[in-house]
Amino acid sequence: MTKTTASDTAQLIIDGKTHTLPIVRGTEGDAAIDISNLLRDTGYITLDTGYKNTGSCSSAITYLDGNKGILRYRGYPIEELADKCAFIEVAYLLLHNKLPNSRELEDFKVLLERFALLHEDMIHFFDHFPPNASPMSILSVMVNSLCNYYPEMGDDPLQDLNITAARLISKIRTIAAFSYKKSLGHPLVYPRADLSYCGNFLNMMFDKPVKPYTVRPEVVAALNKLLILHADHEQNCSTSTVRLVGSAGVNLYASISAGINALWGPLHGGANEAVIDMLELIYADDNNFEKYINKAKDKNDPFRLSGFGHRVYRTFDPRGTIIKKACDEILEVLNVSDPLLDIARQLEEIALRDEYFIERNLYPNVDFYSGIIYRAIGIPTNMFTVMFALGRLPGWIAQWKEQREDPGTRIGRPRQVYTGEPARKFVPLEERT
Ligand code: CMC
Repeated sequence: MTKTTASDTAQLIIDGKTHTLPIVRGTEGDAAIDISNLLRDTGYITLDTGYKNTGSCSSAITYLDGNKGILRYRGYPIEELADKCAFIEVAYLLLHNKLPNSRELEDFKVLLERFALLHEDMIHFFDHFPPNASPMSILSVMVNSLCNYYPEMGDDPLQDLNITAARLISKIRTIAAFSYKKSLGHPLVYPRADLSYCGNFLNMMFDKPVKPYTVRPEVVAALNKLLILHADHEQNCSTSTVRLVGSAGVNLYASISAGINALWGPLHGGANEAVIDMLELIYADDNNFEKYINKAKDKNDPFRLSGFGHRVYRTFDPRGTIIKKACDEILEVLNVSDPLLDIARQLEEIALRDEYFIERNLYPNVDFYSGIIYRAIGIPTNMFTVMFALGRLPGWIAQWKEQREDPGTRIGRPRQVYTGEPARKFVPLEERT
């Protein structure tokens, strides 16, 4: 296939016949060959396992350039947003394509405050999970169940979307904190109107009747930064799941619940938990880096360096760079010395000098150092991916909304190349061998 330079079309030659395909261009120069009529015009589909080279939509939310390590939400560089914004400002930006002014931010805060409580009946749900239930499964069930208690999204889901979005963004942190308290058997701590989004979450997690929790601004700032860095990442696995499920016309809660399940996987959001497991393994094995580097390189061994590599970033993950710095800062402020941080640093250094990782452009991603920050601020390892979900939620909602508002949206329905048995004659049970 060759792209013509003179016009916005590409030519595809099949069996000697030339087919002209339109080229679609984005605002940052990215270009795609539109093959939506290929089957109709040629009888062929395209095959792209893992969607390595397939655009599923046009989107105006997040831009990333994997070669240059650029990430922007609605045009704003991630570095500036992470440095200067509150998470809820970024949530507003993703949802509304504008940074909120003071009045809009205040109104948004009021909504978040108004929706922070969870229907008391839903609190009984937590009692019916076994004590060691995964917080990700609890989160997905609870979010899915919200539609039964807050069913505003009826005939015209878009009309109520601002309310439902605020409701979800506020309640997800209450659900996450309550599930932690329930897992400990501790009394629930309810949200407070005087605390910020992140401060409220930390207080609900860690305040105890016998030992009141002091919300430290440095801890709030670290959490705020992490949530912003996770807030959107264009068409990744969980976001594509949210869009695909949403494309069937299902409600926002169910679509987000599906996204939470996709995020759970160790190749996706679950990697932040897997990184800590890996670092602990190396620590317990007398820092035997060589052994684990070799395992990661061995094609017969399923072990991979968690927190390394990315489908899109080929030079560095800009989120990883910010998180590494934030990690050093928060550990110093809290006066925490974590042996796993030294292991992470050494592992990174060794991997970045190793031909295997160099050749394949494998660098630390967003998950490599985030877990060390979460540990330092007291979040248990099995809740790391829940933290990722809290951060990613505004992005999922914005993507779902964008898709719903687009009149060109069709139900997502990939094709396949069938490789099974050709048609065969049915054999009645009594004649089968
Ligand atoms: N350790 C060892 N080898 C790796 C790793 C790794 N972490 N990542 C990729 N490779 C190798 C892979 O074996 C393959 O080698 P070869 O070409 O010889 O077959 C090559 O690098 C390309 O890998 P791939 O699996 O084709 O790449 P992908 O784009 O399909 O996968 C990935 C991307 C993130 C799933 C993968 O790099 C990985 O499994 N990383 C570890 C899990 C992880 O950290 N996930 C979090 C990603 S960032 C946050 C998020 O999106 O949730």
